[in-house]
Amino acid sequence: KQTGLTGLDYGFVNTSATRSAITYIDGDAGILRYRGYPIEQVAANASYLETAWLLIYGELPTADELAEFDEKIRRHTLLHEDLKRFFSALPHTAHPMSVLSSAVSALSTYYEDSSDPKDAEQVELTTIRLLAKLPVIAAYAHKKSVGQAFLYPDNSLSFVDNFLKLNFGNLAEIYQIDPVLSKALERLLILHEDHEQNASTSTVRLVGSTGANLYASISAGINALYGPLHGGANEAVLEMLAGIRDSGEGVARFVERVKNKEDGVKLMGFGHRVYKNYDPRAKLVKESADEVLELLGVHDPLLDLAKELEQIALEDDYFKERRLYPNVDFYTGVIYKAMGFPTRMFTVLFAIGRLPGWIAHWREMNNDPQTKIGRPQQLYVGSPQRDWPADR
Ligand code: CMC
Repeated sequence: KQTGLTGLDYGFVNTSATRSAITYIDGDAGILRYRGYPIEQVAANASYLETAWLLIYGELPTADELAEFDEKIRRHTLLHEDLKRFFSALPHTAHPMSVLSSAVSALSTYYEDSSDPKDAEQVELTTIRLLAKLPVIAAYAHKKSVGQAFLYPDNSLSFVDNFLKLNFGNLAEIYQIDPVLSKALERLLILHEDHEQNASTSTVRLVGSTGANLYASISAGINALYGPLHGGANEAVLEMLAGIRDSGEGVARFVERVKNKEDGVKLMGFGHRVYKNYDPRAKLVKESADEVLELLGVHDPLLDLAKELEQIALEDDYFKERRLYPNVDFYTGVIYKAMGFPTRMFTVLFAIGRLPGWIAHWREMNNDPQTKIGRPQQLYVGSPQRDWPADR
């Protein structure tokens, strides 16, 4: 898409800012690969941490490497008690994404010993600390928002089970982790782990290009993810579906409003800068939505509404001409809701998923001798030189 002015590229539609060996996307064909492996195969076979290793280090881990990685992450899950008190300074109405980015930013104040971006050992330690602590911070942001006690991580549990227990463990005397739920959540996290130069990853790279440490760069990435055009879309989809249900206007009328661009209303969870075909992640998420809701014995009318909306949109010329298909955010919210997460936690779950990708890109950038500080050009369209008024 041309913008008309030479060298001007709003939204970086045509500009590559880096080379990268992490993720391959063919948006026309609906293909996504992590380090060469098709996303469908990764999602069917890998764990969250195995995928994280693959993205960060470039190859699949051996069994020993994976076991050691897992063990290290388990040993770093605890948060400093002072950092736990940090949560009490925030209002319980705070959006969990704001809590998440603030707490990650605060991590660098506790770990100045691991914030030198040029020291490989420190970067390694920060990588482990972030992977271990982000889910704990996320669960505390959840607990804070609903006024419940923070639980200690249970390091006998797997990464995902620990996270589930931190979120829901105080709801039952003896909390039983549902393996269906655990597997479904792990799959969703894997599907989110990387997506090349999206807005939040580009933010992480841009901030990192200044020499800022990994904590600061990831905190910036979380803030970029928060917006409804990016990760915040999963929350916006649920709000849109609930709005259609509550208003009683009907799906067809809502689609008409989208097509007429009334009040700038969009079909949230639809469209993508790169995919001009069905988002391969959305295909997998849709399958999961049916499976998970059935296995949990949940019937959510919002899922029916989402399917009706998709059907109408896919057959409509407006969406066909613009090649707009459901993206990864269209069906995730319905699953997260069935799992018991409040709507405001949805984008936080996306952040936990995306963390390994952000780290992989930050490290790739720091190891690339061609890296320079990110500094876009502009085309100046303001006033020519003029003199300061003499009477002022
Ligand atoms: N609903 C209605 N119309 C749309 C939508 C939509 N969701 N998305 C794009 N369009 C229209 C847009 O108005 C434009 O129409 P026209 O040619 O008449 O001006 C045309 O399609 C091309 O869209 P664009 O705005 O140039 O596309 P973009 O690449 O700049 O934006 C996007 C991509 C994802 C921001 C956009 O599709 C969107 O806002 N979607 C809804 C929000 C959303 O679901 N975001 C999640 C993205 S995927 C996961 C993630 O990154 O977090």
